Amino acid sequence: MSQWLTLSRAAHLLGISRVALQKRIREGDLPSFDGMVAVDDLQRTWPQLDLDESGSFEKTRAIREDAFARRLRERVLPSQEALAQRLFVQGQELAELQRTLTRYHALFDVLQVRLAQTPQVTAGELQKLLDEGLARALSAPAPAADVAALDAMLRVMSAHVTVKPSGREFFVEGSETLLKAALRAGLAPNYGCGNGVCGLCKARVVAGEARAVAPSDYRFSEAEKTQNHVLMCVCTAHSSDLVLEVLEAGAPEDIPEQRIVAKVRSVDVLNDEVMRLHLQTPRSNRLRFLAGQRVTLGVTAGQASGADIHGEYPVASCPCDDRNLIFHISRSDRRSGLCPPGIPLRGPASADFSHAVFEGRIKSGDDLSVWGPWGRFVLVEDSARPLVFVAVEDGFAPINSLIEHAIAVDAAESIALYWASARPGGQYLPNQCRAWAAALDEFSYLPLATDDLPTALKEHAGLSNSEVYLAGAAAHVEPLAAALLVAGLPPSQLHVEAL
Ligand code: FES
Repeated sequence: MSQWLTLSRAAHLLGISRVALQKRIREGDLPSFDGMVAVDDLQRTWPQLDLDESGSFEKTRAIREDAFARRLRERVLPSQEALAQRLFVQGQELAELQRTLTRYHALFDVLQVRLAQTPQVTAGELQKLLDEGLARALSAPAPAADVAALDAMLRVMSAHVTVKPSGREFFVEGSETLLKAALRAGLAPNYGCGNGVCGLCKARVVAGEARAVAPSDYRFSEAEKTQNHVLMCVCTAHSSDLVLEVLEAGAPEDIPEQRIVAKVRSVDVLNDEVMRLHLQTPRSNRLRFLAGQRVTLGVTAGQASGADIHGEYPVASCPCDDRNLIFHISRSDRRSGLCPPGIPLRGPASADFSHAVFEGRIKSGDDLSVWGPWGRFVLVEDSARPLVFVAVEDGFAPINSLIEHAIAVDAAESIALYWASARPGGQYLPNQCRAWAAALDEFSYLPLATDDLPTALKEHAGLSNSEVYLAGAAAHVEPLAAALLVAGLPPSQLHVEAL
């Protein structure tokens, strides 16, 4: 009997996306049963060459060779690399033994059936059957042993976590915390301080084992202890498979309003019209938000300008890195203006924030207040439709966050990005977009002039079956959105952020 793997684990093992794996299943290339695939079928569908291209075998070989050289040099206790190498070899041996046993089992079944059908079988016939069966069992190719051994090794290096009730999955690499791994995979678990104090990241261990890798001050109640609660921010997976019951944010209203003070790490020029503002939050006070959402950035009186100034901006980075927040600040910012002291840091009268950035009055080392998150321009994660992202000028900021998140959750069949600008070369991060297109199958990128956008979208194949995310100045995106609806795009599949 072949070994069975979940789709996530099989994709992890092959170094491909889960979507690519599902596509092959849909196309009938790869049999699956109940969300699982057999190692033998994987091996047949992705022959050895593909596995080598995934880099996993190369990595393992490098670890093995490196470990061997070190052992000769140092003659000390085995290093992590050496242990990994031994594990790999033992995994290979074990997998080969399992396969041999499976073949003997099959031979035994054949003999049993034959004897049941023909009780008078002669000794000569029996001998022939045995010889043929044994020859088959002993000569069968062994590459699947490598697959199984690699899987055994990956199980040690990265634990597989299933989240209930959503059924989402993620991998924990090394001894990283469950929270960090979940965020990296695009999940939105409930959490607060990130360092074991508030208790908001509590999760219940349903199966497997989690262990603390950092101290915590939070005290569980007796009931929580007996129900196997752990803190995701200080615990890692101890068993190779773990099932957790986790409170996840499914919609913007599940994310609480927060107000934190973050430090300006850098202010860089992206082009003549756009600056990149990088903020870093304190370790114990990170910003929880969903990809695509906005926040209000503010400078208090007496700091950079002597007046309270603020502006509302989409976060351009991914929630998977909740400490490092990136913003694209446009020179001709529509969200700027002066704010009289004393009014709340949000509302129609926003401050001249972008001027302060462009004039160097907001600089590295300054403290800024971050208030939010706001907005409902977020990814519809339960949709498996192709994703079409359309950015006009600095509308790329929330689109960037959404794309990074979509890549992390690995749920879309394909991603198309159109980035329009009125000025030639107005796409201020072209290399990043080209890198996505080069690195990801099923990702396309088209920079274009704003006037060409309606035609390009009209010609986009399968647009009416896609989730379309449109962001930019209201003057651009509102007519475009109206045209898309007239062209037949269902309103539920159109998501607009008019900045
Ligand atoms: S996030 Fe506060 S204890 Fe984990």
